[in-house]
Amino acid sequence: MPLIEDCHVISGQAHLPARINELLESAPITRAVVLRERLNVEFPVLSDRLSRLYGGNENFSDWLNQLVIQSIHLALARPDDLWALDIQRASQPNWHLQGSLGYCAYTDKFAGNLSGVRQRISHLQELGVTYLHLLPFLKPGTPPNDGGFAVASYDEVDPALGNNQDLQTLTKELRAAGISLCSDFVLNHVSHEHKWAVQARAGDTHYQSYFHWAQSAEEVASHEKNLIQIFPNTAPGNFTYIPEVKAWAWTTFYPYQWDLNYTQPDVFAEMTKSLLQLANLGVEAFRLDSTGFLWKRAGTNCMNQPEVHWILQALRCITNIAAPGVLLKAEAIMPTQDLPPYFGLGDTKGAECHVAYHSSLMSASWVALAEENTQIIQDVLSHTPALPDGCAWMTYVRCHDDIGWNVLRPELDARGPDQRARLLHASQFFAGQVTGSYAQGASFQTTDLHTAHGTNGMAAALVGIGSATSEEERNLAIDRLLLLQGLSFFMGGLPLLYMGDEWGLSNTSAEELDTRKGPDGRELHRPYWDDKLAALRQVTGTTQHHLFHKIQQLVQLRKCNLLCHPPYRC
Ligand code: GLC
Repeated sequence: MPLIEDCHVISGQAHLPARINELLESAPITRAVVLRERLNVEFPVLSDRLSRLYGGNENFSDWLNQLVIQSIHLALARPDDLWALDIQRASQPNWHLQGSLGYCAYTDKFAGNLSGVRQRISHLQELGVTYLHLLPFLKPGTPPNDGGFAVASYDEVDPALGNNQDLQTLTKELRAAGISLCSDFVLNHVSHEHKWAVQARAGDTHYQSYFHWAQSAEEVASHEKNLIQIFPNTAPGNFTYIPEVKAWAWTTFYPYQWDLNYTQPDVFAEMTKSLLQLANLGVEAFRLDSTGFLWKRAGTNCMNQPEVHWILQALRCITNIAAPGVLLKAEAIMPTQDLPPYFGLGDTKGAECHVAYHSSLMSASWVALAEENTQIIQDVLSHTPALPDGCAWMTYVRCHDDIGWNVLRPELDARGPDQRARLLHASQFFAGQVTGSYAQGASFQTTDLHTAHGTNGMAAALVGIGSATSEEERNLAIDRLLLLQGLSFFMGGLPLLYMGDEWGLSNTSAEELDTRKGPDGRELHRPYWDDKLAALRQVTGTTQHHLFHKIQQLVQLRKCNLLCHPPYRC
């Protein structure tokens, strides 16, 4: 690997390349001083990670300098209030752990558009929310677009939801209310309507290099034998033939989502630029979507490759330089054993993502409910390590995706060869196919009757609130939901509520489902907020009131627990 010019550290000071020094010298002095301090720490690490990825390229030094210069320009453009927030948060590395409560919603379903979300701030405050994850709100490809996860432009808000100014206004108002806005940042793929894909299709070889291509059906087949299927029913396979290019684009998810090629350094540079621009509009947290798939290596399942972590660590260096108040959250829906590296391991401990979803714990809590036995939760917890300082699990009961069962395979396999049948049981239980089941969910992407993949449905429908026919059944169902929320709230991480779960919103209606474009079964748990039902949370005696009141109590208990250790002193 070639040596990187001027990036070694001498007595705590990084030797910065001349062009970077010149830029700092011409910058306002207060910012330049702070940026120089940050660069002293981050530049050597950034150079190291990026040289591992791209150091073999002959213009690497220039490219790296240009990347850092781009980041410094964006740091200099950072609005004063965000710059001040950065300084404050850099001095409190655990800022996001102080009693935070997350809430996740689709903008259109929750409030129509970004301006509408401002009208919902009081509701979020009523609950004690400090972190709002609005599902993709950037300009998507034409539907179907995987609920916005096929992004056509990372630099513009979806015109159906508002514009960049609306985003900035919203982030300001949220911040004033003590709520950080989290945006999805879909790192792994772009919409086939993104300008890079359009150019690639038009024959531009530079933009073709932004994607992965297989040149023949044999090459596709040789990759496929090692790869998993994310959507085996609705999008089988991992490649899509693109006639204009006469090759197969790598498409891990839907055919209209083209995987980005991170061996091409320009992809990394362009994505970091878009991320910092969004941060400058006030986005305080990024949910890094599908991170496990960022690097492909022939002969492997192309998941969790070491390079994924170098990419994420380099990204963390960039945000540490230009926007250190920003939080990075890994969306890696992987078995427990594969998650710790997303926080950084060994020398890099704590130097990657601040937060990662604990999807195994979530899935295990549903299996435990179906089995009326907590063994699987205990197995998952025994595989869950303590985290480095400044890091946290995101715990949750439901989200916009299906409950994926296969993340639990390692825990089950460790108990014996016949144990996977428990996943099939859970899947059938929540689809209401097991005698005595109260659940009104549906199986997701099951290709045959003998394997489990995922389960769809809102929490209220899965725990039996919808099917309850008596006061007793209703109370039992509510208790089930509270049991799961209790686990999520008191695991010691950052709990996330999914829109409507605080008052028992049920599945999307059959009539509404008919109007949704595309065949994705996850629409079952993507209903619209219902103002009339939500208002019942204030009416004593209703299910909504009962649930909401109890959730508020959990929030209070949690605050209390965090404030006065040990927990039961308060
Ligand atoms: C993430 C999202 C999911 C989406 C997938 C592909 O897993 O949560 O909804 O389908 O990424 O972008």
